[in-house]
Amino acid sequence: MCMVIFAPLFAIFAFATCGGYSGQLRVSVDCMEKASSNLSIGIDFAYPFRLYQVSFEAPVCEGIRRERVFLIGDYSSSAEFFVTIAVFAFLYSLMATIVYIFFQNKYRENNRGPLIDFIVTVVFSFMWLVSSSAWAKALSDVKLATDPDEVQLLISACKTQTNKCGSLHGARWSGLNTSVAFGFLNFVLWAGNIWFVFKETGWHKGAARLAGGASEKQAGTFTQEPYNQGSFDQTGSYNTQGNLGQPSEYSQVGGPTSYSNQM
Ligand SMILES: *[C@@H]1O[C@H](CO)[C@@H](O)[C@H](O)[C@H]1NC(C)=O
Repeated sequence: MCMVIFAPLFAIFAFATCGGYSGQLRVSVDCMEKASSNLSIGIDFAYPFRLYQVSFEAPVCEGIRRERVFLIGDYSSSAEFFVTIAVFAFLYSLMATIVYIFFQNKYRENNRGPLIDFIVTVVFSFMWLVSSSAWAKALSDVKLATDPDEVQLLISACKTQTNKCGSLHGARWSGLNTSVAFGFLNFVLWAGNIWFVFKETGWHKGAARLAGGASEKQAGTFTQEPYNQGSFDQTGSYNTQGNLGQPSEYSQVGGPTSYSNQM
């Protein structure tokens, strides 16, 4: 039930923080010829992190000439995979919530609902783990590729000793760090829910039924024992002559019928 409330919410946090991200870093190029310097070059990038498409203009430090510089790398596959899984997990968990609350009896009909729910939950748990891991790796690469100190190395003017390049600020990462955290949190949530969905399938009831049958047999043999145990009757007032017949009768009639009722 706790899954029902949190799963759609946590999925939203995961894809909103990742898919809605945009960041900016800022570098400065201080040329020996002060007139050609640009002391504040802003570089914007956003989801889905196709960094090779992100470009900015930097002075070449020769008159007013400028060059267009591109960042390096493409992390869109991991980012889009993560967001896609999060969106589908959101849609599924929302649908499951509605079915669970409003169509409870339909859900249990034929046992097909719990069975599908179980398989889908296992698949989504696995997908959360894979996509969160891939996205965590991609994010660490994105952080490196957009590090202002690394970006300076791409600017040709910065390769000349006489020009001074500096980093004013890097991008904010708190949003993307949150998305990774929510990715793994979702994995834990879905993986933990496997057990609860598994209980709904009734497979564990089959196992419990077998265990229950075994314990009933044990109870049957136990009730027969007082016939042979004379010492037990002397000490305890529990087994009087009248009660002796009842347990065996109960075990013969009550046991098998309650067993077949459960079938
Ligand atoms: C410096 O670069 C920015 C782009 O980040 C541009 O908007 C601005 O006009 C440039 N300044 C000069 C002095 O060239």
